[in-house]
Amino acid sequence: MREQETESNDSSRPEFWDVRYACGETPWDFHGVPAALKAFLKESRPGTVLIPGCGAAYEVRAFHEAGWRIAAIDFSPVAVKRARSELGRLANCVVQGDFFTHDLGADRFDVIYERTFLCALPPELWPAYVNRMAQLLRPDGKLVGIFLYGEEKDPPPYPLSAEKASELFRQKFSLMKNVPVSDSLPIFQGNERWQEWVRTDGFSMSCTIDLESSI
Ligand SMILES: C[S@@+](CC[C@H](N)C(=O)[O-])C[C@H]1O[C@@H](n2cnc3c(N)ncnc32)[C@H](O)[C@@H]1O
Repeated sequence: MREQETESNDSSRPEFWDVRYACGETPWDFHGVPAALKAFLKESRPGTVLIPGCGAAYEVRAFHEAGWRIAAIDFSPVAVKRARSELGRLANCVVQGDFFTHDLGADRFDVIYERTFLCALPPELWPAYVNRMAQLLRPDGKLVGIFLYGEEKDPPPYPLSAEKASELFRQKFSLMKNVPVSDSLPIFQGNERWQEWVRTDGFSMSCTIDLESSI
């Protein structure tokens, strides 16, 4: 029961992540940049990007080298220390703070990059995740990245289902790209999708993908 969870097994708290980073129990760590992100960077015009729940933040360097302006955020002090030491002179791209409440400035982002952040959050936070993403993106900005689907007996991670994703995103986003990921870590193999969700609240978009019939 969520009400009975303690600091050490509640993934909505920084302490949950601190202990795992501190003892090197980080099975989600890709130690690099996924191929789908490299392809996205090759085909996209640079702009501004936010990387929430950035962990070790390898992607910061990839976005930087492709000409993007980056903000990365994580609420675990241990993760932020790790990211900063990984990034050297790009360390100041990483802020320590809570994605849901930290003041990220008045400018809206062109793109927000997702990998193993949504699935790190207890599902009761998912509607707030979608609202915050819409709030932080410019009106036709994109939430892009790798989303985990499937089932998990012992979460986290909390995977999505196609039905849940449609229900969560349909008010504010339209799915414009949805392809399997080729280089998943073994623990995520077969369950990751590269997706591009365009913020559409206030706009009517015509060419969207029917998620439930495409997974
Ligand atoms: C599974 S890890 C993924 C890290 C990174 N995205 C990656 O792909 O390696 C989830 C990360 O989200 C961070 N996190 C969870 N909830 C957060 C929140 N509300 N605000 C900021 N960071 C959060 C955790 O500290 C942790 O580093």
